[in-house]
This record gives sequence, structure tokens and C-alpha cells, in this order.
Amino acid sequence: MKIAIPKERRSGETRVAGSPDVVSKLVTLGFDVVVEKGAGIQANFTDEAFRNAGATIAKDLGTALKGADIVFKIQGPITSGAHEELSKFGKGTMLMASLSAMTNGSEMAACAKAGITAFAMELMPRITRAQSMDILSSQSNLAGYRAVIDGAHEFGRAFPMMMTAAGTVAPAKVFIMGVGVAGLQAIATAKRLGAVVTATDVRPATKEQVESLGGKFLVVDPEMEKDAQTEGGYAKEMPPEYFEKQKVVVAEHIKKQDIVITTALIPGRAAPRLITREMVQSMHPGAVIVDLAVEAGGNCEGSKPGSIVDVGGVKIVGHDNVPGRVPEDASALFARNLMNFLSPHVDKETKAVSIDWDDETVKGTLVTRDGAIVHDRVKEAIGKVKPARKPAAPKPKKAVKKADPQSDKAADGAAAKGN
Ligand code: NAI
Repeated sequence: MKIAIPKERRSGETRVAGSPDVVSKLVTLGFDVVVEKGAGIQANFTDEAFRNAGATIAKDLGTALKGADIVFKIQGPITSGAHEELSKFGKGTMLMASLSAMTNGSEMAACAKAGITAFAMELMPRITRAQSMDILSSQSNLAGYRAVIDGAHEFGRAFPMMMTAAGTVAPAKVFIMGVGVAGLQAIATAKRLGAVVTATDVRPATKEQVESLGGKFLVVDPEMEKDAQTEGGYAKEMPPEYFEKQKVVVAEHIKKQDIVITTALIPGRAAPRLITREMVQSMHPGAVIVDLAVEAGGNCEGSKPGSIVDVGGVKIVGHDNVPGRVPEDASALFARNLMNFLSPHVDKETKAVSIDWDDETVKGTLVTRDGAIVHDRVKEAIGKVKPARKPAAPKPKKAVKKADPQSDKAADGAAAKGN
């Protein structure tokens, strides 16, 4: 059985869906692994390291994909234009990648038409057994860490309290909004750097988690928060009255903060708007807001994907693909997630792959098979929303822009999270 690991061609993608460590494990499992030349360069994995791990290096995409039974990728194949990839996939190839399937109807239809068996890893069910296969978790963890580092980078002051001969430096005040995987890691990272950390979330279960990391929890409305969580552990969309209360509580708190990191997402919907323009204007010059939800419409009014916006001296940071800003670790963990998903279907003795189509992790992620889209939630979602994936285009340079006070970002942008 051949596994191919191609180079990622979407703009701004620095990760690769394989690491030397994972390649050597796949080889031990009995696979022939082919890595496209230069695929790991941006993640610091050289062709030589892949070769030493047991992979063959293919000179181009076509050679890498020729005869591949399984393809590991970070993002789905580009389906049109100059960098088109899909036509090089053989019929029946199994693709395991982050496909943003819920918002990507035309690309899912193209994968189905091409006869690919595609697994959208972002749809992995949140069950205990699947934790090691969960790309959203592994990538969000790194994004939460990196958001604090990016915030610190833009901040003109230090994080820890420092007692120096020349005087005392006060610790930075960091406020985390949304305490899922990314938010928890952001709290831990900010605490390690010596900040005074507060955090908030609609899910009451997070209060204890915040406190266990040494943060202080900002409660909005304990009554309404009792019913804020789905059985799957995700946030529900809250009623308008909750947002009114949240606005008042947050407006008062945010004025005194130095760094705010927002991570709030609701699966399948636009990110909730948590910070208004007035709140941004109430912050002191030099304060920094890092909007991790920027690609899903943004938690902060005025944030722009791929940009740092300056509003009266307050910087709103909206980097694209934040896990890709830690490409080596992000690639290594993503590759592990894919291997952990595949390996239960490999017979240890015969080394044959036989997918158990009734397995919950397979049923939860399988989007296309035998020429059709087969995932009910995806079918329903793409019937309703327009494709959200941007075509491959040169990545705009990071820019510090002055905000246009009149412009208001549409909240109905890409609704689902992907990476
Ligand atoms: P997420 O990325 O969907 O959302 C981030 C956070 O934003 C969540 O904590 C959510 O409650 C919060 N949020 C949403 N709307 C908000 C609002 N209006 N105001 C404030 N906060 C708001 O969530 P993530 O990080 O994917 O984790 C969700 C849950 O799933 C967590 O409890 C996590 O522990 C659990 N999980 C379970 C896994 C498994 O069992 N396999 C794997 C990964 C996570």
C-alpha cells in the first residue's frame, strides 16, 4: 500500500502532512511512503530526513500521486486554476485532510466527481477514543500558544512584573475570550510569561479549568450559561439577551486590559462578535487584540484576515493560519493525527488496510465515496451556504493598516472553522 505526502500548494500554507517520525512509523506498519520533493521545507523537514526515515522522494506531484492508495494532506486539493491538483489523484484514492467540508460545496462535489474517497478530518467526532486523531485540537493548541507570542510581539511592554533598580515594571493584563482548546493553551502560555490572566466563556464548565491554570474567571450570566453547551462539548449559539449582558460586563473589563485574545467559535456558524468598535476605542494605545476567529468572521469588530489593523493605537492582529506560524510542531502533530486515524484499520500481521466503514471515526469524517457526497451534515450544510475557500492566490504581505471607522466587517463570512 502506498501513502503519498504531497507539498501543500494553497497560499500561505507552511505545513506538511508528514514528519520523519510519522514516516518511519508508517513504514514499520508496512506502507510504502512517497514524499514530494521539498514538501517539508517550510516545516524544517528536509528531503534527506524523510529519506532517512524510509520514504522515497518523488520529483513532482504527479509522480508522488501515481499509484497512491492513500494521500495525507493538510488542506484539500486545489480543484481549478493554475495550481490545480485534483486531476492528478487517481480514482479511488483515499484522501485524509482538513477539507473545510461544511462550507466547501463545490470542492466536495469535485472530489466526489473525481472518484476520491475523502475524509474531512475536521469533522472527527469528539469522543475520547478520537482525541489522538483530532486535528482541531492539535492545531488549536498551537494556535492558542502562538496567539500569546504574537500578542507579546506586538506589545510595547513586558509581560512579567520586574523589580529593577530603575523601577518596577507592572505585569501585563491578559484577557482570554473563549476557553476551548486554544483558549486554555493561551491562558497557560500567558501565565508562564508572567501576565495577570482573566478569561471568559459561555460554558460554565470552563470556570474551574481557568482557575486551575491560575486565571480568574469573568462570569456574564450564570443562569443562561447553565444551558450553553451541546452534548458534544461545543458552545451553543446564545440568545440576544446574553450578548447584551456580555457586552456590558466585557466593556467594563476590557478597558483595563493590555492584551485580549479571542478564540470563540460556534461550529457551522459565523464566529460570535464579542468586541465592538467602542470597546476597542476604550482601550489604551499600545493595547493588542489577537483575533484567532478572524478566518470565521472574527470576534472583534474591525479585524481583517491576514492583517494587523491599527485603531487609535490599539492593534488588532488577524493572522491567517495561525497553526502554520508554528509549522514544524503543527505538521508533526497533524501527521500523528492522520496516522492515528489510519492505523486501527491496518492488520498488524498481514499489513493489509481494511477500512471499517462502520467505525464512528470513519462514519463521522467520510465525505465522498463512490462518486457521491455521502455525509448527511455536509450535504445539508452545502445546500445552504456558498463555498468559503479562497482560491490559491499570492498571499498579501502583512500590513499595518489604519482602520476605516466607517467600514464594518460582514459577520456572515466563512462560518465554519477550518485550518
Ligand atoms: P471551539 O473552538 O468550538 O470554541 C472555542 C471556545 O469558544 C469554546 O470554549 C466555546 O465555548 C467558546 N465560545 C463560543 N461562543 C462564545 C461566546 N459568545 N462567548 C464566549 N465564549 C464563547 O471549541 P474547542 O476548543 O474545539 O473545544 C470545545 C470543547 O470540546 C472543549 O470542552 C474541549 O475540551 C472539547 N474537546 C473534546 C475533544 C474530544 O473529546 N475528542 C477534543 C477536543 C476538544
